[in-house]
Amino acid sequence: MSEYWENVKNTAVKWVEEAGRMLKDSLHDSLDIQTKSNPNDLVTEMDYKVERYLTERIEQNFPGHKTIGEEEAGRNIASTEGVLWIIDPIDGTTNFVHQKYNFAISVAVVENGHGKVGIVYNVMQDEWFTAVDGRGAYLNDKKLPETCGPVSLPEAVIGLNGRWLARETRSDEASLHHMVRRSRSVRSYGTAAIELAFVACGRLDGYISFRLSPWDYAAGLVLLKETGITVTTFQGDSPSMLQQNTILAARPTLHEELTSYLYNHKGFTY
Ligand code: IPD
Ligand code: CA
Ligand code: CA
Repeated sequence: MSEYWENVKNTAVKWVEEAGRMLKDSLHDSLDIQTKSNPNDLVTEMDYKVERYLTERIEQNFPGHKTIGEEEAGRNIASTEGVLWIIDPIDGTTNFVHQKYNFAISVAVVENGHGKVGIVYNVMQDEWFTAVDGRGAYLNDKKLPETCGPVSLPEAVIGLNGRWLARETRSDEASLHHMVRRSRSVRSYGTAAIELAFVACGRLDGYISFRLSPWDYAAGLVLLKETGITVTTFQGDSPSMLQQNTILAARPTLHEELTSYLYNHKGFTY
């Protein structure tokens, strides 16, 4: 059966490669940029174009599969039964617009809620993070280690959302400040999919975000499972594939340590 998912992954990689070319080509033209839920929530015509390109190919080639995408696809899907593709056509749209760098296409294939294939394509760096359930995770052609050794917070570099610098009413700020001070350093790349892939390949030791959607992390979850990284919500649950979640991804020992900072809250709701 895992041969089947390997083939699905190889097929998806070809489509993502073509979608990546579309994104690179579009950087020479002027973009149509709009806002969604708030003035910082950007979307471009390329987000829609890439999502449509991928969903059309999935519908043609895998007619029994369902698709959820950030922009349009799968709004009525309420169950993870069967095979579900979860797509973020551009993760890091703000980077795509402002920096033309540090953005990804993220594609996951999930069967009955279990991640089978994960692809995070770091477009401008041409880096492929791929994984098939039970077959390991890869950075380009290099297999990533299946387990990772312990690390403590003073030796760890943690990925955080930059907006945490603004007042964060949903957390115990003192506890967060303490955690940041105790860490070796923090980083913020503005693309959750790449940040999770960086945890999988060891460029980051952990990643924390207050609120992400399944298309931000579904592919990352497959990579992380294959590399022995623990991923949960702040409450220690498995993240849902249909709803928004808090996300805490870290090597097992560090995950425990970080949980103590995040969960050491006094009546805060996440
Ligand atoms: C965003 C990025 C960002 C994360 C946001 C996401 P988008 O995705 O992953 O790093 O902090 O919560 O919405 O909008 O660029 O696809
Ligand atoms: Ca995203
Ligand atoms: Ca997006």
